[in-house]
Amino acid sequence: MASVSQSTNFPIIIIIFFFTTILIPTTNAAPFIVLHGISDKCSNRGVTQFTELLSSWSNSQGYCVEIGDGSWDSWTMPLLEQTSIACQKVKNTTELSQGYNIIGLSQGSLIGRGIIEFCDGPPVKNFITLAGPHAGIASIPFCGSTAICMLLASLIKLEIYSNYVQEHLAPGGYLKIPTDITDYLQGCRFLPKLNNEINGMRNSTYKERFASLQNLVLIMFEDDTVLVPKETSWFGYYPDGLRSYIACTRDQALQGRLDWFENIR
Ligand SMILES: *[C@@H]1O[C@H](CO)[C@@H](O)[C@H](O)[C@H]1NC(C)=O
Ligand SMILES: *[C@@H]1O[C@H](CO)[C@@H](O)[C@H](O)[C@H]1NC(C)=O
Repeated sequence: MASVSQSTNFPIIIIIFFFTTILIPTTNAAPFIVLHGISDKCSNRGVTQFTELLSSWSNSQGYCVEIGDGSWDSWTMPLLEQTSIACQKVKNTTELSQGYNIIGLSQGSLIGRGIIEFCDGPPVKNFITLAGPHAGIASIPFCGSTAICMLLASLIKLEIYSNYVQEHLAPGGYLKIPTDITDYLQGCRFLPKLNNEINGMRNSTYKERFASLQNLVLIMFEDDTVLVPKETSWFGYYPDGLRSYIACTRDQALQGRLDWFENIR
């Protein structure tokens, strides 16, 4: 998935814009955390620079929250587990205890939303995501040709909603095959829960926590080729059963999602 190092300049400019126009006046420079994308890690130069730059521009403390060893675990640790580790780390960080902001980069956006909805930690004030696969993805991002990626490729060929794949492949937690929604709802362990998609298992606490954000900023990359469909960054997705047609414009997609959050009582 688009790592910061590949596309550093563009997102930083946008983020700085939001930091300076939205966040600072309303939050009095609350600290923020950065959740990096898949294949990345906090110690990579791109992520470090990104965090430092945001920190200096916003004059607030920034922390990159690492989960496990970074890149390997970002691919192989189930997202519920990643979320719970991040939640613990946030709760352990006293500087965040009065409230904080979250910046999510691609897969990190889902972990961020997991923290907001599932974690009983300090309040999240503002949430900014860059290329976050909020509504799922229809295919797994290309990993590369290293041995690790070969191993992953063999996992991907297995039954994606099986317990085994769900326990060993992080993107399996938000792979939503439009033509296989039944199996997705039954077998996928992360996104259906995060998006309150399962009838009878909807939890109004998730909705309340998500709705309590002061600002929600969702950034989509117009030329994104990693996220399929790219509109998932705005909660847009293919209609069930169809793979090629996105019915929603940005506003409809967002509105649909909000109505849907409204339906949870
Ligand atoms: C959080 O702090 C507790 C108690 O100090 C410690 O046992 C735990 O390992 C910490 N968790 C993380 C994820 O850092
Ligand atoms: C909803 O989620 C909250 C927070 O995780 C939890 O405390 C509560 O028990 C859940 N409610 C139901 C009905 O599952």
